[in-house]
Amino acid sequence: MNEKRSSVHGEWSSGLIFILAATGSAVGLGNLWRFPYLVGENGGAAFIILYLVCILLVGLPIMIAEVTIGRKGRRSPINSLRLLARDEGITERWSLVGWLGVVAGFMILSFYSVVGGWSFFYGFEALKGSFTDITSDQASGLFEGLVASPGLVLLWHTLFMIVLFIIVAAGVKKGLQRAVTLLMPLLFLLLVGLVVYGFTTAGFGDAMAFMLQPDFSAIDGGVVLMALGQAFFTLSLGMGAIMVYGAYLPQSESVPVSSGWIVGMDTLTALLAGLAIFPIVFTVGLEPGEGPGLVFVTLPIVFGEIPLGYLLGIVFFVLLSVAAVTSGMSLLEPAVAYLTEASDGSRVKAAAIVAGLIWLLGIAAGLSLNAWSGFHLLPDMGIFDALEYVSSNIMLPLGGLFVAFFVGWKLRTVSVAKELDTHNHHRLFLLWLYVTRFVAPAAVLFIFLQATGLLGLLSGGE
Ligand code: PHE
Repeated sequence: MNEKRSSVHGEWSSGLIFILAATGSAVGLGNLWRFPYLVGENGGAAFIILYLVCILLVGLPIMIAEVTIGRKGRRSPINSLRLLARDEGITERWSLVGWLGVVAGFMILSFYSVVGGWSFFYGFEALKGSFTDITSDQASGLFEGLVASPGLVLLWHTLFMIVLFIIVAAGVKKGLQRAVTLLMPLLFLLLVGLVVYGFTTAGFGDAMAFMLQPDFSAIDGGVVLMALGQAFFTLSLGMGAIMVYGAYLPQSESVPVSSGWIVGMDTLTALLAGLAIFPIVFTVGLEPGEGPGLVFVTLPIVFGEIPLGYLLGIVFFVLLSVAAVTSGMSLLEPAVAYLTEASDGSRVKAAAIVAGLIWLLGIAAGLSLNAWSGFHLLPDMGIFDALEYVSSNIMLPLGGLFVAFFVGWKLRTVSVAKELDTHNHHRLFLLWLYVTRFVAPAAVLFIFLQATGLLGLLSGGE
């Protein structure tokens, strides 16, 4: 039972490619669209601190755990969990955690694709020169006009899903690996450039105060849950994306070192995105709590007025689209890998089925912002918002909880230690094991109880 399995889907050609692919998965709309708007809505610095704590105490250890499962199982998350459970002689129902991830992936990609479509649309608008000298009212108007139009939203959502389908159907290896290698560093550079620009704006001081001076009065159980959900979302954890990428990681590469790089680059990108966006928000007098339109409203204003703004605007929104695509692929991959394994064959057919179903759900997400805006799935939440809320704040942390429990308590410690190749770092290994066994699951449970108000009830509080 200790023989090494090999992946039926192929392997990354090196550890570096794995890091790039997983970073491509992690860095996406979560960093550039979701992070800034959540920070804006949830009190700035205090939210950032909670988010960083969640990344370090929960995100990093669970990322290592997910990659470990993937590389030991070498299959889709559903089948990897089943195989490892079988190895340990425990119930194969652990594969249900893989199914939970597949459902979460469907839900996330359905709204993610709508926002990915917006990125495509903005790339197109940049090309048309629509941002030249745009005022903040016009920028808001452009975004609101897009979201209010069912035709536009569905058109771009459809294009986004078609692009994902083509790439995933072809197998991830060839084209995308190369694209990611080239484009991710470029995105990073451009962000740094925007941060430098933000430094010269009048709103820079206010932005710094907003991002650095915590006001903990803005924090309640619900906000802590948002920070946790965002940590999972941005790191692509809790639904099998990182697990399935880990299944393609060559045996010679270090799981903890790769994980550290991915987490580090993802966190840096999110912070840079905040530093790029908030100075503009304060300079042009927009509200930080503007909501999901935040990046789409702020950046066109900058591109409309800076030298070379026309070109930079195109580059930025193309890169945003690329970042969204490389994340979207990884949202499809767990289900596609499973269907391919289950049907003994056609990846193309598997990708078509999965992408088609998600496309349908995405139509509902897109329409809920305009034609169906009166319909609420949860109190105060339409389909789009409910999909986003439930998948990121509940399903991903729940998936992560099971992963931590499985690796921390169910797999034999020796075999995990062997997979992580920890000879020379025994203390670090023990630290990770301790956090994975106790700290991460306890934190997730605590935050769940806190957010649902159950903790208050249990402790006999109000
Ligand atoms: N991490 C991606 C982002 O930040 C989104 C994602 C979530 C991808 C979950 C895969 C799995 O945009």
